[in-house]
Amino acid sequence: MHSLKYNLPTDSKMRDKSFVFGVATSAYQIEGAVTEGGRTASIWDTFCYTPGKVDNNENGDIACDHYHLWEQDIEMIHGLGVDAYRLSISWPRIVPRDNCVNQEGLHFYERIIDKCHALGMQVYVTLYHWDLPQYLEDKGGWLNRETAYKFAQYADLVSGYFGNKIDVYTTLNEPFVAAFLGYRWGIHAPGIKGDAQGLLASHHMLLGHGLAMPLLRKNAPNAKHGVVFNASPAYPENPTDQEAADLCDAEGFHWFIDPVLKGEYPTLVLDHYPAAHPMILAGDLDIISAPVDYIGINYYSRCVVRFDANGQVETIAQPDAEHTYIGWEICPQGLTELLIRLDKRYPNLPPIYITENGAAGNDVCVDGEVIDEQRTRYFQDHLEAVDNAINAGVDVKGYFAWSLMDNFEWAFGYAQRFGIVHVDYQTQKRTLKQSAIAFRNMLISRSLENKNG
Ligand code: FCB
Repeated sequence: MHSLKYNLPTDSKMRDKSFVFGVATSAYQIEGAVTEGGRTASIWDTFCYTPGKVDNNENGDIACDHYHLWEQDIEMIHGLGVDAYRLSISWPRIVPRDNCVNQEGLHFYERIIDKCHALGMQVYVTLYHWDLPQYLEDKGGWLNRETAYKFAQYADLVSGYFGNKIDVYTTLNEPFVAAFLGYRWGIHAPGIKGDAQGLLASHHMLLGHGLAMPLLRKNAPNAKHGVVFNASPAYPENPTDQEAADLCDAEGFHWFIDPVLKGEYPTLVLDHYPAAHPMILAGDLDIISAPVDYIGINYYSRCVVRFDANGQVETIAQPDAEHTYIGWEICPQGLTELLIRLDKRYPNLPPIYITENGAAGNDVCVDGEVIDEQRTRYFQDHLEAVDNAINAGVDVKGYFAWSLMDNFEWAFGYAQRFGIVHVDYQTQKRTLKQSAIAFRNMLISRSLENKNG
């Protein structure tokens, strides 16, 4: 059997204790208790209760029951030896009705944050990991410009309460997925379809991010503030398909990162969708491009593309490559190249955290053991990919495994297990998979090294 410890090259900057290792989760995917503690419905509750939207019609009603098991979960995270825990706050737990504040919701997260700090871990908090309050969707959700202002109000409230107690704030997680899967292709909540809708929703999300930034800085001047993007870099199937790859990257992540780092939308996308331009008011792009302290990058896979007969980008399957259970190609090299591409594209690129990276499996627990050989290899290879990017000059400051534990994987329900910890949904028993043990063993030896060195 391979060694149960990830190995970082001897001269790797990731061995230094200033490099942050963590694990990540999000509220709706793990908490459950959807009607407890004063929480009201989010668009994901509504979406899940609509038959046919989620595999097996599953939902987050119970999920990992983290709302009740949070204390043992935080202890388990600490047991992994990580420096930081990345979680998200459920907006409808904090603002269950328009202009209301739910103290019970704030206290729930406060106990988690305090416990993490007591155990010596930093806390990275995402304000929006896709669970928009349903009452805001009823007024148009992210298609309504007003929602951007509601988001800023909520960000002000959370940061006003926690201030510097949250070490790192993230406004949005993956606006691409929230806007395009939710409001353009209809495969995530709230299930709306249309290019114009997708582009408009994304502009309003970015505006919400920009409006929140100065409030976060005012309320938490010592914390770091930024936003998290997902990126699945495109490769041309043949050299003649480069234009398709460029458009795919432009829609997939330049559309979201350019406004923040360059204060403009990519013309490739604007030119390709002349009839779907969002309403951008004077000053919006100045608001959106407020300086950020870092950006987060979530990376899982790459895609290979060309134009189909109608001039649309199509993804070409790579049958010879290895894939994870969810069907995503494993391509660590894509991560190195993505980071280098970002570094080239944005001269003012702030430090990067890899805020998510991981692999889905259909893991089973046998006699208290979960052997997830593919995931363990996946992490080893992607850690090396990050190290290669650092050696090429990219300023990467941290790496978070997605996910701490198996959880509700959105439209895929519970069948896709992304955890480094296995969850038995019948008993809520948690079992460290081999990938978690390898993570822990790497972190233990890194911390010994740092003590001795
Ligand atoms: C990302 C999401 C995260 C999880 C992983 C697999 O797009 O941010 O919640 O679903 O994918």
